Amino acid sequence: MNLINMNKKIAILSGDGIGPEIVREAVKVLKAVEEKFGHQFEYKEGLIGAAAIDATGNPYPDDTHELCVWSDAILFGAIGDPKYDNDPSAKVRPEQGLLAMRKALGLYANIRPVKSYDSLLDASPLKPEIVKGVDFVVVRELISGIYFGKPRGRSEDGKHAFDTCEYTADEILRITEKAFQYAKNRKKKVTLLDKANVLATSRLWREVVGEYAKQHPDVEVEMAFIDAAAMQIIQRPSQYDVILTENMFGDIISDEASVITGTLGLLPSASIGDQAALYEPIHGSYPQAKGKNIANPMATILSAAMLLEYSFGWIKEARAIEAAVEKALEDGIVTEDINQGTYSTSQVGDAVVANLLAS
Ligand code: IPM
Ligand code: MG
Repeated sequence: MNLINMNKKIAILSGDGIGPEIVREAVKVLKAVEEKFGHQFEYKEGLIGAAAIDATGNPYPDDTHELCVWSDAILFGAIGDPKYDNDPSAKVRPEQGLLAMRKALGLYANIRPVKSYDSLLDASPLKPEIVKGVDFVVVRELISGIYFGKPRGRSEDGKHAFDTCEYTADEILRITEKAFQYAKNRKKKVTLLDKANVLATSRLWREVVGEYAKQHPDVEVEMAFIDAAAMQIIQRPSQYDVILTENMFGDIISDEASVITGTLGLLPSASIGDQAALYEPIHGSYPQAKGKNIANPMATILSAAMLLEYSFGWIKEARAIEAAVEKALEDGIVTEDINQGTYSTSQVGDAVVANLLAS
């Protein structure tokens, strides 16, 4: 069997809101990569989120799980629908599909790179001199902590609610290994964010990360409190290289981080486990823009680049996509979220494809 020429299998989960429109553009770009670099991908689509609830009653149907297990990598759009946000009594929610998928596929490491683009320094709500040179990654633990700890729920009289934050040393160790791996290929600095002055789980994080750091003296390790870091990340974001943190702190700090560069529509992410990996834009389903062909597809296109690099090890292909996106940015071929751009979702996708094929 010739492994080199085997088709790579990509699961396509478009999800809700603008998901289908932005994923369509990323698939166009992947098809251009096939053409340019002589690869072959096999794409299969699955249902997730509100779209899956409407069709099957389940936000993460078994068929979708099987599709994910079959695939070599998953490209994901967005999840969420106002119909459920406005209904506190809804028994099933689209977001449950995402959490169930992360857990079922063991996607424990969420990687969110934040990088400023020189041509877009003015797009940030922060001063350009603060934003210039920002280049860090948030490495967030994704399938444990308070999101999944037990017990959780309500007392019988409904007047007492509880969630449990729990971590094992093994769960902390495997994400720590990932963070150090990234740091070694970058500026060799890891900052652990926690609340060790209050929480027992945070003290375990410090212990595990501290031990691991001793065996990896080439990486500088810093430990800081999440509340202070929430200020620091705005005051001096360029000090960070790899930010390592638990599930809920990572959820919050990564949203904060995503606005620093003013380019939410450009930020990709990866959720990685030992057997599966999923790639998606940081932004949500943007229901107001659904079907209007105005959403920025670049974060999803850059997520496809991350997919090629992280899951397949194809650096040259990934860099070619990134360069094609940067050229579109420089040429001003952008959607309305960037400097009041006037191009549509599909026009931006077409421009990226054209740049890629011409490069
Ligand atoms: C994210 C989202 C999810 C999370 C929601 C939609 C469940 O905010 O991916 O950051 O909290 O993890
Ligand atoms: Mg979030």
